[in-house]
Amino acid sequence: MAASSVFKAGLFNHKVAIVTGGGTGIGKAITSELLQLGCSVVISSRKLDRLESAAEELTQKIPSSSPAKVTPIQCNIRNEEEVKNLMASTLKLHGRIDFLVNNGGGQFSSPVNLMSAKGWKAVIDTNLNGTFLCCKEGLFICSYNAWMKDHGVGHYNNIIKILCITLHCLAVSNITHVVGCSVVISSRKLDRLESAAEELTQKIPSSSPAKVTPIQCNIRNEEEVTVS
Ligand SMILES: NC(=O)c1ccc[n+]([C@@H]2O[C@H](COP(=O)([O-])OP(=O)(O)OC[C@H]3O[C@@H](n4cnc5c(N)ncnc54)[C@H](OP(=O)(O)O)[C@@H]3O)[C@@H](O)[C@H]2O)c1
Repeated sequence: MAASSVFKAGLFNHKVAIVTGGGTGIGKAITSELLQLGCSVVISSRKLDRLESAAEELTQKIPSSSPAKVTPIQCNIRNEEEVKNLMASTLKLHGRIDFLVNNGGGQFSSPVNLMSAKGWKAVIDTNLNGTFLCCKEGLFICSYNAWMKDHGVGHYNNIIKILCITLHCLAVSNITHVVGCSVVISSRKLDRLESAAEELTQKIPSSSPAKVTPIQCNIRNEEEVTVS
């Protein structure tokens, strides 16, 4: 039986999300939750047939009272033209984008000495460059203003608001126990950093020289960046 949401039904009624990699795994679970909350979701990845069958399955679970829809759109996030098409098609379909969940990507566990340059580049190209392209398109290029203007609709003062959620930070921190590299993790909230460091430290094999160190730093503050 599916777990019921902790959020109020209808919380995201009439909102629109794009979930990259939304046809499988974590992305599919996020999509399912958003749909249950009334949010329409565009799921995208490279394999259209997998997206289409996920969309069909997810559609059957949407409550009949909900305005939510799920639409599959093929897109390789490494390809700028395809990312542009994803954003433009979503705007054309729904007239808005509220959430962008940068979930599409992947990595493989490998000791660093066995990792090929090709494998490394593929992971970076997808997780880093792909995420960058989606954020760039979502935030700067497909501005709501431009779309509304092109379609002759009034009220185009409402700049598109996109909340980007990226799932790769966890992967980066997890690299510690994969490649045996020490990591300094930093953000503004020291207590959160300390508990993350404690959790990550427990996963480091006893044979590994790696350490995780939390250092508080607001990256907007040049002095803090220099000192840390
Ligand atoms: N599971 C974990 O423990 C874990 C831990 C840390 C981080 N993560 C990250 O969380 C995300 C989801 O993980 P998951 O476990 O749910 O894995 P998953 O089922 O393999 O999901 C990855 C999704 O990303 C899509 N994708 C891969 N390359 C893409 C590309 N170039 N363009 C567009 N879509 C692409 C895949 O679809 P196509 O093949 O159809 O493109 C797939 O739907 C991944 O980014 C992963 O790196 C997972």
